[in-house]
Amino acid sequence: MRITTKINLLTTAWMLCIMILINMVVYFLFMKSTVNMEEDLQYQKAGDIIKDIQSLSPSNSNINRELKDYLTAHSYIRILQPQNKVTHEATNDSLLSKKIKGKYVETKQAQTHLLSLKNGEEEVLIVRVPINSGTSVNESLEIGEQLIGLETRKEILRAILGFSTILAALLSLLGGRWLANIIMRPISSMIKTMEEIEKSGVPKTITIQNKTKDELQTLAKTFNRMIHRLQESMEKQKQFVSDASHELKTPLTVIKSYANFLRRHGLQDKQMADEAIEAIHSEATRIQKMTETFLDIANLEKENVLEINKLDLVSLCKGIFKQLKDAYHREITLHYEKYPIVIHADELKIKQVIIILLDNAMKYSKDKIDVFIEKNEQYAIVQVRDYGIGIPSDEINNIFERFYRVDKARSRETGGSGLGLHIAKSIVKLHKGEIKISSKEGSGTKVELFLPLH
Ligand SMILES: Nc1ncnc2c1ncn2[C@@H]1O[C@H](COP(=O)(O)OP(=O)(O)OP(=O)(O)O)[C@@H](O)[C@H]1O
Ligand SMILES: [Mg+2]
Repeated sequence: MRITTKINLLTTAWMLCIMILINMVVYFLFMKSTVNMEEDLQYQKAGDIIKDIQSLSPSNSNINRELKDYLTAHSYIRILQPQNKVTHEATNDSLLSKKIKGKYVETKQAQTHLLSLKNGEEEVLIVRVPINSGTSVNESLEIGEQLIGLETRKEILRAILGFSTILAALLSLLGGRWLANIIMRPISSMIKTMEEIEKSGVPKTITIQNKTKDELQTLAKTFNRMIHRLQESMEKQKQFVSDASHELKTPLTVIKSYANFLRRHGLQDKQMADEAIEAIHSEATRIQKMTETFLDIANLEKENVLEINKLDLVSLCKGIFKQLKDAYHREITLHYEKYPIVIHADELKIKQVIIILLDNAMKYSKDKIDVFIEKNEQYAIVQVRDYGIGIPSDEINNIFERFYRVDKARSRETGGSGLGLHIAKSIVKLHKGEIKISSKEGSGTKVELFLPLH
């Protein structure tokens, strides 16, 4: 069932319940007030009759005539004595007077009864009033009247209430449909856009028409933000595939041309053959490294890739330096005041970041390298300083981008692919940290890693 239909039906059902309740109250109050009015009239009539018959001589014919004068349509008037003995009676509806037996009122209190006959179709109001003659009560007056006016008014009221309930339900159904459509419009437009996206595979945003700040608007805005992110990530993916294939093209061309050379000339020229094999080997190694890096990047784009453990940065750096010094024979000095400096992080990933920074420092400088480890209230800070060629100030903002190299020719010599800093930044971001770089061309570079202590 559509949500608009559901809202519509539910509101209409609720509206019907309210209407029925209100109608019942109105009906009940109307009946009560009309019967009260009739009661008052009958009491007044009873008072008048009693006054009249007390002023008459007690002959039968006089009293009966007097009673007859007070009759209205479908009524009877009786005078009763103890043991319910009817002494006088006047009626214009003998059936009615037969149906209702006379009853003598023993107390000094008047009594009223509303009798429903024929399953509520006929309402009869009976009033019994004691007749005081001096101090004693030995007669009572009984007036019974069928409330024909009430019955017809009841019918009319029922018809009006029934009609207005049906009309209200109809209006609620139509109005509800209209309102539900207005409210659901952004959702319908969202569904349409989603169906289009599903068909075409191209993410699209929804046009937000009215600027009301309601939940649906928030939903539409969130949807658009999500689509923007999706577009961005698709764009990044496309860019990555094109950059990656472009990067792979150069080493593959070198390999292909040396392989062609070997196919044509074989191993006749020993020196040339050695050079070709060496070049093929080094370019293949470069491709291998690059594909490993690609996999690293792909993994970092996924979330929850971290294996968080307690980690002491000082001992981690000491370990790394030992390995690097053995392999590259470069002077790397570690400076720290406190020991240990513990953070919660993924050891392998942080190690990868520090190696990336040291690798850059070694590649782009010839002197010693200094590494400082310190901490403030929030962060553990690792600083890698080199005194090499530095980075031009207008390039600093670009060096974290994928495949970006300041000097393409120089980087080819040093064998870089321009992915190191991008990977380092992604890892630091996953750890909710920051990476800052400052550099002066010709005098060196300082890279700072801020890793949250908690
Ligand atoms: N310490 C540094 N001194 C001077 N230039 C640097 C330094 N670190 C980075 N750069 C510049 O920033 C560029 C990007 O660095 P990045 O580490 O991302 O790539 P790369 O070192 O060229 O290749 P790799 O993917 O092997 O790390 C480098 O090519 C280099 O031009
Ligand atoms: Mg690098």
